[in-house]
Amino acid sequence: MKVAFFSSKRYDETFFKQNNEDGHELAFFETKLAPRSVALAEGARAVCVFVNDKVDRETLEGLRERGVAFLALRCAGFNNVDLAAAAELGIKVVRVPAYSPHAVAEHTLALLLTLNRRIHRSYNRVREGNFSLEGLVGFDLHGLTVGIIGTGKIGSITAKLFQGFGCKLLCHDKYENEELKERGATYVDLDTLFSQSDVISLHCPLMKETHHIIDAAAIAKMKKGVTIVNTSRGGLIGTADVIQGLKSGHIGNLAIDVYEEEESMFFEDQSATVMQDDVFARLLTFPNVLVTGHQAFFTDTALTQIARVTLDNLSELEKTGDCKNELRPS
Ligand code: NAI
Repeated sequence: MKVAFFSSKRYDETFFKQNNEDGHELAFFETKLAPRSVALAEGARAVCVFVNDKVDRETLEGLRERGVAFLALRCAGFNNVDLAAAAELGIKVVRVPAYSPHAVAEHTLALLLTLNRRIHRSYNRVREGNFSLEGLVGFDLHGLTVGIIGTGKIGSITAKLFQGFGCKLLCHDKYENEELKERGATYVDLDTLFSQSDVISLHCPLMKETHHIIDAAAIAKMKKGVTIVNTSRGGLIGTADVIQGLKSGHIGNLAIDVYEEEESMFFEDQSATVMQDDVFARLLTFPNVLVTGHQAFFTDTALTQIARVTLDNLSELEKTGDCKNELRPS
């Protein structure tokens, strides 16, 4: 089957070519999928996109007109796709539900430990021959209370990693994870989690009900000096409110791998252009804020798995017209 890849990077090409056992015809395009770029999908039966390709109704209509039958997401999250429009137009949407939840969970800890122990600052200092410890005070994770919002695949692994540090776990999810409960985690309502957690880690999907789950009202309920980590989706955090929280000192630390307006910036080298996003620019001025550019998933293990599952999804669709990893509108 011919597959047109959008938002493609060199590493996508490498991993997909390496794992193309069924011999699909792969065409890679760096551009994002949008109404103006759908023409590139001409002749392709499937289109493959990533997290920041906005697949709205207009784009889907353009794909349908060109005979595209399948949309393969090479990621887990699908908040960027209009599933109802896809269903109406008869375009089947598939995703990679889990590629390496460990990769994201481990990055969550990497971010937190880096920020807490000021590794990002000491790395630069030592390289300049500055061995002063001023401003590098961290805190022990051992004994702290960590609130995990969303205890699915990634959240539950993150929770276990925190347990390894000797943290007490408070969890919030619609569905309680029995294994975590057996290991001593307690499920609580959101207000209790906000008011009792020293560290809050976000692992729920971005949906209407979770949009800006961290806003001014939520921050007001949190402990002074709280640390917030978000490796899920940028829209979970109201950035303007978080900036106010950082300025007042109510938020002690913020580590994020995702940002609500990341679409126009992340995954591109923009080092030679003037940053237009003043909110993001303000975030970068805080010494107690650490940002990575949506790289939590970015391990060799995860990229191999993403390529394999995406190509298997397409093979399954080609052979049977159905796929176990199909997404349907709720
Ligand atoms: P999952 O579907 O296994 O778990 C999500 C959990 O959130 C579920 O248990 C669900 O019940 C829960 N949930 C839903 N609504 C909730 C609410 N209102 N409050 C609390 N919990 C709620 O998903 P998985 O694989 O653990 O991924 C979590 C998120 O991580 C994804 O939605 C995705 O946005 C993000 N992600 C980020 C990556 C990165 O590179 N930064 C890579 C992969 C995923």
